[in-house]
Amino acid sequence: MNLNGIKLTWLGHATFRIETPGGKMILVDPWVMGNPMCPASERDPQQVDIMLCTHGHGDHIGDAVEIAKKLGPAVVGIPELCGWLGKKGVKNLAEMNKGGTQTLDDIKVTMVHADHSCGIQDGDQLIYGGEACGYVIEFSTGLKIYHAGDTNVFGDMRIIRELYTPDLALLPIGDHYTMGPREAAYACNLLQPKTVIPMHFGTFPLLVGTPGALQKLVPGIEVVALKPGVTAS
Ligand code: NI
Ligand code: MN
Repeated sequence: MNLNGIKLTWLGHATFRIETPGGKMILVDPWVMGNPMCPASERDPQQVDIMLCTHGHGDHIGDAVEIAKKLGPAVVGIPELCGWLGKKGVKNLAEMNKGGTQTLDDIKVTMVHADHSCGIQDGDQLIYGGEACGYVIEFSTGLKIYHAGDTNVFGDMRIIRELYTPDLALLPIGDHYTMGPREAAYACNLLQPKTVIPMHFGTFPLLVGTPGALQKLVPGIEVVALKPGVTAS
């Protein structure tokens, strides 16, 4: 894997910190404080310029409000989720919907489909959060990263390949709440990325899928098992 000037750090579960060649910091699915996989040194981010939220479940937006209020990033999400974040006092919302692309600092972000649910647990209320999504991020170097969010495999991953041809796919493999290795292998065949970084596994005992199980099913694709907190570049 060669990310050509982009620095990507997995913070455990679906949370990634990505530094662009221009020095901007992207945080995808801000869940650091309560995330048992997140290294202690990453639990209090000091710079976030762009925050991407895939859906309203607590293991994805658990720290979105606090980090957004503290650091003031552009916050990207589907309109219903952004509406809820706005009610909680988050400013600088950059809402969008599936199929749309927007330029933020030195990246282009496209929102794509995900096959998952999206309710927001707010105290004892369950709020409609729109739909779950994924993102394709295009960097100034031309590199494209697809973060699938929480999802099952779906046939239109073929459209994501045909329209955006992501080089690197960040795919959930933990099973139970998302794809397991069997479904993720099918997703790899639809997406045909050069490299896959597995996520959303190992956080809890239920999330039993492993990178090794996925790699066995897709011998032609590089499966890179990152360690939380270690930066790939
Ligand atoms: Ni979820
Ligand atoms: Mn999840």
